[in-house]
Amino acid sequence: TTMSAMAEPPPLAQKERYKVGFSQMESNNPWRIAETKSFHDTAEACNWDLIATDAAGSAAKQVADVDSMIAQGIDVLFLPPREEKPLIPAVMKAQAAGIPTFLVDRSVDPNVAKAGEHYVSFLGSDFIDQGKRVAEWVIENFEGDKGIIVELEGTTGSSPANDRKSGFDDNILKDDRFEIVASQTGDFARDMGRQVMETLLQAHPDVNIVYAHNDEMAIGAIQALELAGRKPGEDVLVVSIDGTRDALQAIIDGKMGVTVESSPFFGPLACEIMGKYAAGESIPPWVKVEDRIFTKENAADHIDEAY
Ligand code: AHR
Repeated sequence: TTMSAMAEPPPLAQKERYKVGFSQMESNNPWRIAETKSFHDTAEACNWDLIATDAAGSAAKQVADVDSMIAQGIDVLFLPPREEKPLIPAVMKAQAAGIPTFLVDRSVDPNVAKAGEHYVSFLGSDFIDQGKRVAEWVIENFEGDKGIIVELEGTTGSSPANDRKSGFDDNILKDDRFEIVASQTGDFARDMGRQVMETLLQAHPDVNIVYAHNDEMAIGAIQALELAGRKPGEDVLVVSIDGTRDALQAIIDGKMGVTVESSPFFGPLACEIMGKYAAGESIPPWVKVEDRIFTKENAADHIDEAY
């Protein structure tokens, strides 16, 4: 008996122009808008005819969007999967249609769909490390005796929510000054972050640290804290991930402690990596993006380039 052949991602022909699909999941925050803009900005320089869709926060619509791109004959697919499991059918269908897929910024369940088999590669940040770096910064910079933490999680079932949670929780809990009293989803959205924080503040009025999985929820939490008469930056330490303009401003204003960068600017990297793939170079399963860290030491130096 022979072992069943391992799946392989479809090849990409070398061409003058490519029909490129970019399936955005939603456009409800500045990070998503910056990512989509990065693909549009890259299209001309990279000779792409870009088809970009917006699934408006629905994994089912994102799968349908990919279906329609396949029907339109795209050469290559760039996919930021909203959630880890529901987008697996999209990856599998593209593969069956002979279209090489690159996951960008978020990933899918690695037990089911694999880089180098079902899709070419994942281009993106190390979300576990981002959470770990926030935890390490808090351990070094929190000045109280007891840190009472509220955690605002990203979209349930998404790779950044899963990994930013484990990266932070596993490291912060090594220091017994810290306790996580509540951890709830705010769906990576400012409004929901504010609402969830309002509710959690009533149950846990003694909270003095808020860890949000992205800057939008951190800004929402700051609004809720201020509405409740708290003083973010003085009696509550707010920390998060991304590096948006509003977060850098909040750091400059003394309301936020740190944001670990998660870059949305994937267009140029997408162009470079697909060119290498078409040229027959081998692409690693994970093309890792290096992230900076923004604090009051450097936020003002970076706010002009922020989104
Ligand atoms: O996948 C990356 C995350 O998704 C960003 O941190 C967040 O702002 C976005 O919605």
